[in-house]
Amino acid sequence: MTSVLVTGPRGLLGSTAIRVFRDAGFEVYPYEGDITDAAALQAFVTSLPSLEVIVHTAAATDVNRCEREPEWCTAVNVDGTRNVRDAAASRGARFIHISTVSVFSGKEGGYREGDRPEPGNVYNRSKEASERVALAYDRSTVVRLNVIGVHPNGSRGKNFIEWILDAIRDNKDMQIFTDVRINALSSWTIAELLADLIRVNPPDRVLHLGTSDLRSKADIAEWFLSRAPSYTGHVTRTTSDALSSLAHRPKEMWLNVDRAAVVFRRTLPTVEHELERISTHLLSAGGKNEAGQDRITAGG
Ligand SMILES: NC(=O)c1ccc[n+]([C@@H]2O[C@H](COP(=O)([O-])OP(=O)(O)OC[C@H]3O[C@@H](n4cnc5c(N)ncnc54)[C@H](OP(=O)(O)O)[C@@H]3O)[C@@H](O)[C@H]2O)c1
Repeated sequence: MTSVLVTGPRGLLGSTAIRVFRDAGFEVYPYEGDITDAAALQAFVTSLPSLEVIVHTAAATDVNRCEREPEWCTAVNVDGTRNVRDAAASRGARFIHISTVSVFSGKEGGYREGDRPEPGNVYNRSKEASERVALAYDRSTVVRLNVIGVHPNGSRGKNFIEWILDAIRDNKDMQIFTDVRINALSSWTIAELLADLIRVNPPDRVLHLGTSDLRSKADIAEWFLSRAPSYTGHVTRTTSDALSSLAHRPKEMWLNVDRAAVVFRRTLPTVEHELERISTHLLSAGGKNEAGQDRITAGG
């Protein structure tokens, strides 16, 4: 049985990956501790009976906090990644490091694996630095992506989809961006592709994951709004330039996924497919999510 340690088990991607990997028949070890504590991490890794792969999803993902507290951001995203990488190397395990489309400038979009990163804010620079840390180990793969979804244990209101759904539930007014285009996959599809990546073990050092088409963030918000007839808030379509934000926000946030289609021998799904998938998971929670909170109304 393939043994896999997952960092960030409470996060959107980490918590989804744990479920999908267990369903795939892997022996899964969630690492609940702080990745900046190298000794505790190493002790945990040493204690495992077997370790073939580490999937590193833990990260400081609050972009504005990274701007305010760059030392914290670097400690988690760069030094923490070094600790996880070293722990993987101590067992000779593969190291799958999750990175982001945001290492690119976002001026053109369609970025390929060999394109030069040009990160524009503290978070993005920390992720770019974390990639270099990961790639210093020869058994590592950097996976760049953009993820959408809702934490399987209930919304924590932290990411884009959770923000939309929480606003719909609470009838809050929304400003949605027409000028930011993404090809984000759902956490469920990413977790399945990561399971495939573990099985296939391609030679790639860097791999891009994303949908086969793209949408603006406004289009995605409107997809959910069209399925929420009881929503009474006011929606303003605007551009990201109209809002003041502490951190620089790139606009063309999409990756070329030609190589992934070859590695996984299939066409990557569409945005529409991924939104349906997220909605289906919400509806299948049957009115309550697993944390016992009220389910977010998204399916109409
Ligand atoms: N969300 C996005 O839009 C997005 C887009 C592109 C790429 N990514 C990348 O995808 C990966 C997964 O992101 P996500 O969306 O799943 O983010 P998330 O939901 O914010 O999860 C990140 C997890 O990392 C954990 N963490 C933070 N600091 C830690 C530390 N010092 N030690 C151990 N764990 C720590 C957090 O723990 P707590 O639960 O205790 O806070 C959280 O559960 C990250 O590498 C991120 O950079 C995310």
